[in-house]
Amino acid sequence: MTEQHAPLVPAEGPSRAVDVPGTDLDPWHGTYAARASGLSVSEVRALFAVASRPEVVSLAGGMPYVRAIPRELIATAVDRVLLTDAPAALQYGSGQGMPRLREHILEIMALEGIEASADDVVTTTGSQQAIDLVTKLFIDPGDVILAEGPSYVGALGVFSSYQARVVHVPMDEHGLVPEALEAEITRQRAAGSRMKFLYTIPTFHNPAGVTMSAERRPRILEICRREHLLVVEDNPYGLLSFDETPPQPLRTLDPDNVVYLGSFSKTFAPGFRVGWALAPLAIREKLVLATESAILSPSSFSQHIICEYMETVDWRGQIVRFREVYRERRDAMLAALATYLPNLTWTVPNGGFYVWVKLPSELHSKQMLPRAVRELVAYTPGTGFYADGQGGREIRLSFCYPTPDEIRVGIQRLAAVVNGELELVRAFSGTGSLAPGSGDRAVSAPPPDLR
Ligand SMILES: Cc1ncc(COP(=O)(O)O)c(C=O)c1O
Repeated sequence: MTEQHAPLVPAEGPSRAVDVPGTDLDPWHGTYAARASGLSVSEVRALFAVASRPEVVSLAGGMPYVRAIPRELIATAVDRVLLTDAPAALQYGSGQGMPRLREHILEIMALEGIEASADDVVTTTGSQQAIDLVTKLFIDPGDVILAEGPSYVGALGVFSSYQARVVHVPMDEHGLVPEALEAEITRQRAAGSRMKFLYTIPTFHNPAGVTMSAERRPRILEICRREHLLVVEDNPYGLLSFDETPPQPLRTLDPDNVVYLGSFSKTFAPGFRVGWALAPLAIREKLVLATESAILSPSSFSQHIICEYMETVDWRGQIVRFREVYRERRDAMLAALATYLPNLTWTVPNGGFYVWVKLPSELHSKQMLPRAVRELVAYTPGTGFYADGQGGREIRLSFCYPTPDEIRVGIQRLAAVVNGELELVRAFSGTGSLAPGSGDRAVSAPPPDLR
């Protein structure tokens, strides 16, 4: 595989549950625990596998562009760890993670205004494992998790594996809507639901690309505190801003009611699989016990290399370089959308990896995907980002991995797919072919409402 051609399987987490065809061929069918029914392959994964050809431009996966880090820097860090600290780096470690790394994690979080103690940090195997551990601690089958609609596919996969019921709360271009959150909580209370936490990605949302406004943050925290609802703040993209600095994390406003999740995946490299949770004391102690029971300890080797990297490399400068790479790609994607698909609407991300596009009402994101793959472009259908079947009119485009030129080609191909599908649908429904400018809504981004 070349650097231009990523595998098309979404890189940012397990797939959401669907019925697995052919389960009757499994000799253990009927033996599995009920929770195993929440684990299954994505309905689009088969198509992604077919589409993993070099000629396909993938706007689907969420893979960081790790080639932006000079590989000599990593090779040197690995060498130095092995030469100076091999016995510790190759050994089991503490379940909570290396104290030295936890101190460095404080430096990273300080860039966003978070003040904390290294004692409150639990190192995990990517923030994905932190999502898993928090869910394991709080969720019994049938419990309700509130999450933005749409939400991160990898978190939905975890929630499903613990048999949670995910209830989506609408967002708009300013993030989660506080009034909608309040109304949903009231509805769930009236229905007798056991609500456990709000899972939110307030900054540079995956997949929606929007950021919760500074004005809404305290309001949302106040609602959750009043309702005794824990907030799980997932913030892997917060340092990847392109324009103005985003509002400070929720954790800075309410340390006692927020579990904050961070990651080295987007600002360093996902291959090390190191992330962390910053949690109030009681939860933190349970997280350590849950980590020990799941994996004994996070990778000592990865933690040592990250420490070495942070102590010897200008890691802050590297984050600035990542921002520049992704800003250029974001700009290429927005410009290409404006040129080739002017009649659609989309969000304008101020950071992160994703643009969320609304399709004309006649089209369906999942049904259109085979045609897109035939036209040599891949995207992620919106249906993967909801637990309740929404998302048919939405698609997620990632600009993190393809080059700006590939992005332009990919969007041009996508335009051919959208216009081809529209012509087909309109020909069959008797409304004629697509005249220029006769698309869904002649408005460019951002859409007023992501519902
Ligand atoms: C919102 C969000 N949370 C968590 C993760 C998982 O990241 P990690 O590599 O730290 O496990 C991702 C990865 O794409 C993500 O987008």
